[in-house]
Amino acid sequence: MAIEKVGVVGCGLMGSGIAQVAAQAGCQVTVREVSPQLLEKGLQSIEKNLTRLVEKGTLSATERDQVRARLRGTTNLDDFKDCDFVIEAIVELLPAKRELWTALDKICPKQTIFASNTSSLSITEMATFTQRPDRFLGMHFFNPVPVMKLVEVIRTIATDPRVFDEIVAFGGKLGKTVVRTSDRTGFIVNRLLVPYLLDAVRALEEGVASVEDIDNSMKLGCGHPMGPLTLLDFVGLDTTYYISNIMFDEFKEKRFASPPLLKRMVLAGWNGRKAGRGFYDYADPAKPKALQLT
Ligand code: 3HC
Repeated sequence: MAIEKVGVVGCGLMGSGIAQVAAQAGCQVTVREVSPQLLEKGLQSIEKNLTRLVEKGTLSATERDQVRARLRGTTNLDDFKDCDFVIEAIVELLPAKRELWTALDKICPKQTIFASNTSSLSITEMATFTQRPDRFLGMHFFNPVPVMKLVEVIRTIATDPRVFDEIVAFGGKLGKTVVRTSDRTGFIVNRLLVPYLLDAVRALEEGVASVEDIDNSMKLGCGHPMGPLTLLDFVGLDTTYYISNIMFDEFKEKRFASPPLLKRMVLAGWNGRKAGRGFYDYADPAKPKALQLT
């Protein structure tokens, strides 16, 4: 089965990126948000990205128009009824996912493949909300989706191997390098990344070095595009805290336990770039100022 019609549920940071790359890859894309305002915000961010690509000469104006024509926004889940593939990138709350998948299972034909972009929740559990666990899997993208070259494709013990291979091939069609993995919390990237990020917070907490020196160490000493504390601000402290708690719950290993400083910052609402403050102050987003936190 060729995947031509794609449904993306959620048009936030991840959903809008997924919708954009799918439309750029030639798919007909329907993207859904819960309100016209949120939908408009997501579509505007896609428009901004496409305009940037035209300005840089990566995309011609004609190609941009073709991508736009392949993208349709909606607030109505019924518009997914003829999709070959539906990927969900909504809030990371299991009850919200349950409600969504239960509804979509009734709306979409039996052959439609379902995937979740979750970074930490169990794909196996989500599959049980539907009557098609054999056609359910994970497809985990990275932020910013149009730039990051990787996608993790995640099988559960119930995923049909042919469905898995089909989505691996689809990931390649989107221009991504696909890594195959199984349904263990954190998959590959977050299993390795989250303990590293938490360790950077511990190093700060223990007075090893300042925010800037920790970041510069990994940026300039190891060639990372961002230091760990800048990356935490970029991903969101609340998101990382949430993921680490789920991972700790699953593995009961200390390396996944949130350091007290991270918890305090989340409690204070210092969630990173999106909140205007995390390990850095973003009053001037072009010149983030490192904060003294310990
Ligand atoms: N959307 C689309 N394009 C973007 C973008 C965005 N939000 N942000 C940057 N870009 C593009 C720019 O247009 C530019 O394109 P060009 O090279 O063709 O001109 C390119 O990316 C580089 O951007 P900048 O020059 O502005 O800035 P940087 O060189 O600092 O790159 C970055 C920005 C790509 C974000 C880079 O710093 C980076 O790779 N950081 C690490 C990001 C990362 O690790 N992401 C994964 C997070 S973990 C995750 O998502 C999993 C989840 O489960 C937690």
